[in-house]
Amino acid sequence: MTDINKSASGDLFDPQSKERNLNYSARSLVDIENGEISRYIFSDEQVYKDEIERIFKKSWLYVGHESQIKNPGDYVLSRMGDESVILNRDNDGKIHVFLNTCTHRGMKVCRYDEGNTRNFVCPYHGWSFRNNGDLAIVPQFEDTYKNHPFDKKEWGLVEVAQISTLRGTVWATWAEDAPPLKEYLGEAFFGLDRALSPWDGSDDEIELLGSPQKWIIPSNWKIVAENFSGDLAHNISHASVDKVGIGTDSKEGRRDDPGEFILSGYPEGHGIIFGLKPPGQEPNDYQTSPITTAYYLENWRRRQERQGESGRVNPVVGTIFPNMSFHGQQPRTILVAHPNGPGQTEMWRVYFVDKKAPPEVKAFLRRYYTRYSGPAGMTEQDDMENWNYATSSCLGSVARNFPFNYKAGLGATQSHPLIPGAVTMNPALHTEENVRRLYKRWADVMDSSNWQEIKAKSKGGK
Ligand code: FES
Ligand SMILES: [Fe+2]
Repeated sequence: MTDINKSASGDLFDPQSKERNLNYSARSLVDIENGEISRYIFSDEQVYKDEIERIFKKSWLYVGHESQIKNPGDYVLSRMGDESVILNRDNDGKIHVFLNTCTHRGMKVCRYDEGNTRNFVCPYHGWSFRNNGDLAIVPQFEDTYKNHPFDKKEWGLVEVAQISTLRGTVWATWAEDAPPLKEYLGEAFFGLDRALSPWDGSDDEIELLGSPQKWIIPSNWKIVAENFSGDLAHNISHASVDKVGIGTDSKEGRRDDPGEFILSGYPEGHGIIFGLKPPGQEPNDYQTSPITTAYYLENWRRRQERQGESGRVNPVVGTIFPNMSFHGQQPRTILVAHPNGPGQTEMWRVYFVDKKAPPEVKAFLRRYYTRYSGPAGMTEQDDMENWNYATSSCLGSVARNFPFNYKAGLGATQSHPLIPGAVTMNPALHTEENVRRLYKRWADVMDSSNWQEIKAKSKGGK
């Protein structure tokens, strides 16, 4: 048991003067080998500022889905860390991600959640930007700037350094030296790719059902991320919802039957919980009507044909570092935990359906999603209550000096023939290995100034 006098603040404070040590190391707050993590990383203002600067400006971040911007001129607002960004398609069909700030004096050039436009016209002084980011019009430009004209080409909207897509999802990063998205994902690509594919495992399209749900919770963003990266032990939180049976049909349990749980963690900080069905077992979920029953069974069989033995594996839930989480079998959603300060997170959740699914299946999924996830979803409400109190405990003047315990399943990883990554199965099912890997990566990125350093730190380490 930790002594009350032993501070878990790492070297955040200078031991002599007790002043803030701006050269602290994130690794001093995260003891992966012993599974102890300082509560200061969930509450400290300086740590939060450094996360925004060092993690959210270096990482690949999920910004949206191509089905939200199908046509030239379509746009949606998104976020990257603390910044508002515009995800759009220009007149030539090219995808862009722009900072949502006018290069004149900072007004938001777009204040609608979604729409279609050829130009973003700033409402402050009327500068007008084409949907490819070019500054097209500055009112009375010739007269106003005749003595000192400036080159409009240099004052277009600020664009991210790199954009990449994966099965319709769009990702962006501010880091020119970030590795390609596929390399960034590492072996977690297997699970994410499968979560984003349609139910029959083909290359057909999936699309958003409705618009994103957005709401704010008094929780640190990492507590959300770690929950989805591999926290099976928290299922006790959902005991009452499980009993009520708000899941896929009238049977008890709040979700479809995943089979055996297997957790897989990755050195890049990602973590996924997989479900492994016994050989030959067909699912009996989603049997709410003859149409849904037939649709899911038929697609399940097609997937088995395509994927063979590997078709028994399905990603149930996971987190892609730093803050994108997904459900691959619930049936399909993405949640992004946008940081709003150390004690607040803005949650954006989107729901996916197979584009070619019949209307009755889409209607069934709409009911399923709203019962399960989002601000009104019963399962999400259980989770949020835990995260909110866990966050507020990190602010307590005494409580914050006691580290959190992440010791479950230390040293219990192995490999699995069907699932890439470092896998943990029974008897250490309630392992916190995925979460330890998330925080190891968190510290490595926080303590690095570029991608070369991040890669060097991750080499050989778990
Ligand atoms: S701030 Fe946009 S035109 Fe002035
Ligand atoms: Fe949960």
